[in-house]
Parts: sequence; structure tokens; C-alpha cells
Amino acid sequence: MSHIPLVDLKTQYQRHRKEILDAVDQVFAEAAFIQGSHVERFERSFTERLGAAHGVACANGTAALSLALEALGVGCGDEVITVAHTFFATTEAILHVGATPVFVDVDPVTGTMDPAAAAAAVSPRTRAVVPVHLYGTPAAMDEIAAVCAAHGLFLVEDAAQAHFATYRGRMAGTLGDAGTFSFYPGKNLGAYGDAGFIVLRDAETAFRTRQLRDHGRTSKYEHGTVGYNQRMDGVQGAILSVKLRHMEAWTAVRRAHASAYDARLMPMGYEVIRPPEGVESCYHLYVVQVSNRSDVQKAMAEVGIDTGVHYPVPLHLQPALAHLGVPAGSLPVTERLADRVLSLPLCPELTEAQRERVCQTFLSVARP
Ligand SMILES: Cc1ncc(COP(=O)(O)O)c(C=O)c1O
Repeated sequence: MSHIPLVDLKTQYQRHRKEILDAVDQVFAEAAFIQGSHVERFERSFTERLGAAHGVACANGTAALSLALEALGVGCGDEVITVAHTFFATTEAILHVGATPVFVDVDPVTGTMDPAAAAAAVSPRTRAVVPVHLYGTPAAMDEIAAVCAAHGLFLVEDAAQAHFATYRGRMAGTLGDAGTFSFYPGKNLGAYGDAGFIVLRDAETAFRTRQLRDHGRTSKYEHGTVGYNQRMDGVQGAILSVKLRHMEAWTAVRRAHASAYDARLMPMGYEVIRPPEGVESCYHLYVVQVSNRSDVQKAMAEVGIDTGVHYPVPLHLQPALAHLGVPAGSLPVTERLADRVLSLPLCPELTEAQRERVCQTFLSVARP
């Protein structure tokens, strides 16, 4: 029985091999290895496509978050309200700038930050809120932005999984003071290595972000501040420009697969992660809840179907974050999701026949 991967990057490469190799060849021919014209071109086109004010390409999605926080002035002594139902990097970036993450619970349907919990967590030390558009489902941004406005807090969106997701007609990542993206290869818009991006609302913060990304440089030999080496490679900029041209079509296919999964699974009583009215996920992952996850994963693996768990250990229960002192049981929705979420194969290369095989196998073994 043929293998069905969670994400099929090999088939994607074969389909777009010529345009990708042509783009890479140009970078090598011009020796435009770090930043340079290919990165600048991608910066312009991604920023424009998002409808954002300013865009800064960088080395990865983790650096994107910490550069954005530092450029906004978030640092030692500050608290940042965020979620524990996410990839580790969200909190790592907050810790990298010297701030303290304060975890709040998530909504059980969208899996994203509960705005009421965020409001209740605001303290005199709170400086910023970092919601995560996990799986490509935008968080409740109007409500979270209202909390930020009421308390004078920065709003930084972790849009690492949310390329081309929309919230009431606007692109995820463009709704706060800053939004950050990852182009890790398996992301909806994935590089051929590490890469990331920061979207910014105001020009001054964008200037500081650019400076921090490149050793604090103001010119080749003058350093206005102490920064980092967090630049994007030319090859990644060139490949991302090629792939950006396909994003609209790829996102449409992902949404069609997701609604077909919904139609098969929801009537059978399964809870699936889904956005509310007026909000469109980009379906980085298709996530369903089950009560017998390891049995399902085993049965699907036996017939060659890959599944994933994003993520099995919430951040407040990670050994590295034990010093934050958040006990088990304190984030009940997060902990329940961590026990129950299962990601099914979803990518633009998935065929209808493959999706049907996934559904049949899943329904034969899963329990809601
Ligand atoms: C939600 C989230 N935040 C941050 C990151 C970090 O991105 P990167 O792996 O590019 O550093 C990722 C990606 O892995 C992610 O999924």
C-alpha cells in the first residue's frame, strides 16, 4: 500500500524543479549569497501580498519573534502573555529577550488564545501579548487587540503557521504591532533551509528590526547598536519568491481538502479545530481530536499513513520551563488538547483518493 506523508515536499519539488533550479542558479551566478537583491525582492513582494506596511526578512521564525520583541523594546522585567499550546519557539523567543512568559489557556474550538484569559492575566509588568495562529487558524484578534489597547500593550502575532490565513478580510500577521513568520521547509510557504520574516506597523520599529538583524549596522562599517547575525540567505529569498507565486493556488487546495475532511468527520461526532465565521484558516495542519490517539496512529502507520501530534507536551509542562512554576492542571483546555489532538495528512499534493483512504482508515479505528 502506498505511503501517504503528512506533507509531500518531494512531489512539490519535482513539480516545480525547473523554476526553483533556475532561481538558485541565478543566486549562485551573481554570488548573492546573503541578503542582497533576491532577498530584497522577496521582502517587497511578500510585504505587498500581505498588504503590510513594512517587512523584514530574517534567518528563521524564532529570530523573527525575538527581533520583533526587542525592536519594540520588550525585555528584562517585562511580562509577555502568551499560550502554552504552541511550538516551543514562541516562548523561547520571549525568554531570549529577557522577558517572562505568562501562559493563558486557549479556546477549545480554535485552539488559540482565550481573550478573556488574556485580559485576566494582565499585571502592572505586562508589556506585550503574543497570540499564536496555531495550525493556520487566526486567534480572536479583535478581542485580543481590545485587551492590548485597554492596557497599552504591544500585540505581536506568531504567524509562523499562518501564511495567507485571513481574519475578517485581513491577512494574519498584519493585525498587530508586529507579526512574525517561519519559512521552515514544511510550512505552507517553506524555504529550502531556515528562513523567517517580520511584518511591522511602523517605520521606526522596522528600521530597528533591520538594524538588529544585521549586527546593528547603520552602514557597512558603522554599528549603531549591538545586534545579531539573523540575516536571510539569498538562495532562500529566491526560492521563496518562486513559491510565493503558487501560494494562492496551494492555499485554495488546502482549504478544499480541509472542508472535505470536515464533511466526513464532523457528522461522525469528531471535534475538529476550526475557525469562526469571517475567519479563514490556511490549514497548515488539519487537526482532529480523538480519545484513543496512540491506537489511531499505530493503525494508520501500519497501512502507510503518516500522522502527527502538534503538540503532545504543553509548554508549561516542559522540563526546560519548570522554573516558571506553572503546575499541571492549571491550563485545562490546553492540557486536554495536548492529550487529544491528531494531525492528518494535508498538503497541496494530497490527492482526493489519498484523502479518502485517510478518512476510511481513521474512521475505522478512531473514537471521538
Ligand atoms: C508556532 C511557531 N512559532 C515559532 C516557530 C519557529 O520558527 P522557526 O522554526 O523558523 O525558527 C515555529 C516553527 O517551527 C512555529 O510553528
